[in-house]
Amino acid sequence: MKNLIRYTSLALSATLLASNSTAQPTPPPEPPIYNSQATRHPEIGLHGMVSSREKLASQAALAVLKEGGNAIDAAVTLGFAMAVTTPQAGNIGGGGFMLIHSADTNTSVAIDYREKAPKAAHRDMFLDENGDVDRELSAYSHQAAGVPGTVAGLAMALEKYGTISLAEALAPAIELAENGFPVNQDLYQSLKIGKPRIEQHAPHALPYFYDETGAARQPGETVKLPELAKSLKLIAQDGPNAFYRGPIADLIVADMEANNGMIDHQDLANYKPVVRTPVRGTYKGYEIVSMPPPSSGGTHIVQILNILEPFDLKAKGHNSAQTIHLMAEAMKYAYADRSKHLGDSDFHPVPLDWLVSKSYADEIRGKMNLEKATPSVEILPGEAPSEGLDTTHFSVIDRHGNAVANTYTVNFSFGSKIMPPGTGFFLNNEMDDFSSKPGVPNAYGLIGGEFNAIESEKRMLSSMSPTLVLKDGKAYLLTGSRGGSQIITVTLQVVLNTIEHGMNIAEAVSAPRIHHQWLPDTLRLEPGISPDTVALLQAMGYETKASGAMGTANSVMRDDDAFYGAADPRRPDSFAIGF
Ligand code: DON
Repeated sequence: MKNLIRYTSLALSATLLASNSTAQPTPPPEPPIYNSQATRHPEIGLHGMVSSREKLASQAALAVLKEGGNAIDAAVTLGFAMAVTTPQAGNIGGGGFMLIHSADTNTSVAIDYREKAPKAAHRDMFLDENGDVDRELSAYSHQAAGVPGTVAGLAMALEKYGTISLAEALAPAIELAENGFPVNQDLYQSLKIGKPRIEQHAPHALPYFYDETGAARQPGETVKLPELAKSLKLIAQDGPNAFYRGPIADLIVADMEANNGMIDHQDLANYKPVVRTPVRGTYKGYEIVSMPPPSSGGTHIVQILNILEPFDLKAKGHNSAQTIHLMAEAMKYAYADRSKHLGDSDFHPVPLDWLVSKSYADEIRGKMNLEKATPSVEILPGEAPSEGLDTTHFSVIDRHGNAVANTYTVNFSFGSKIMPPGTGFFLNNEMDDFSSKPGVPNAYGLIGGEFNAIESEKRMLSSMSPTLVLKDGKAYLLTGSRGGSQIITVTLQVVLNTIEHGMNIAEAVSAPRIHHQWLPDTLRLEPGISPDTVALLQAMGYETKASGAMGTANSVMRDDDAFYGAADPRRPDSFAIGF
């Protein structure tokens, strides 16, 4: 695949020479005339598109595309750049999922670089003497960290599917860390909120992000991260080995040993990302390609789309009470199944074929009350046949149609807020995504079952859902989101808004969102759902709750011969850019 998706500047030069030699100069490609009556307007490009939560990282990725790099080169560059400019979510101390589509071979793969539980991890490690979950331990201790996967995952993506070297992909990140970058509104907000915990867990990180009076560095002020620059340079020089077996591993392990942590040298040396087969489905003629376990996201997006497919949601109206009701019912059944059937498929078989089958969706649709909300207590996870608070998403597509949807995370904002001294990066607190006590909700209110109990070297269940929609076999939509348990429903709504409701990508990304996750039995609604609709939903039996912004779905779309990008307006510095 690598050679097939390699961009050949030679081929382009030949084309240019050929066109230059004709008597009549060929007119340059023209941007399509876009619907001027649209209420939101996407970025438009003819050669590629990038959408992420942060401008400098989007620009670094765009520069790679402009220089002839492919979408994977640009995405890996972006991932490392955001590890510097967006340390609350971008990372090298966490993990994630990357969905890659190759235009030439028309194949898609999913790179799973989710964190793993350390060897020493065990089922009851976060329970106190009364058998209750100790949230401080599961979220803010050295034991909260899973073995990080980002460095290995991004390096693997580049090695298998990219064309530039790891050092080239790291160069913008190193420059940003070394020479500094201006704080943006997004980082400023996170720093203000995160200060008490950063002060407690990483006092040595304070001078980077706060001035001598203790105030968070303000938008426009420069932050330099020399220790992170050093870590990134070591990776550029020695590859992932620097992180997993070399000097960075030594710093992580020393910090673990000093603080009752579990990650040891063997955990780091053993860490391997996995290339997985994406989960697939169809919706009204489009193909859906998304993240398989240990993500629950792709499975439930396909499941919910299957349930909704026979309904004419467009005729019922976007965000009408009827449409929201059908979506919420379908969501409840899916999240109930999540609580029982989902976990790391390397440890327990997940009944994937059944969950994403049209026949199981028919069965669920048969149980749904089309007029009234079914109370969640009456919805139980299906019986499988016996055989059987800070993440970030970015999307990149290149001129050939190679495409990357990537979601990665340290879980909470700045993860556990623990920064192993000398490394310059925060460690994730992804261990909290396990069901510390099966049946007891985690930080996102999600109930997990036995399949997601803590086990040595297991991957914790995730909701991250990098998703690709194919139209006529070509990458059409790339999306995904942040937002914990809401990632699945946010991603689902971007898909429905485009392919069911016919919105352009900017409209689809900005439209008000809804969320139901079975338990708690509450329908959450973003601002923008009309009070009349809310009243109708309440009359149907819903307990509704006004919610703040849900998710951040930086998405791109390709139709005909143009690329469209939308940065989610729910974060102040999201930035889509094409050329
Ligand atoms: O993997 C998961 O599902 C969670 N760790 C994601 C956390 C998240 O989205 C927080 N962000 N806003």
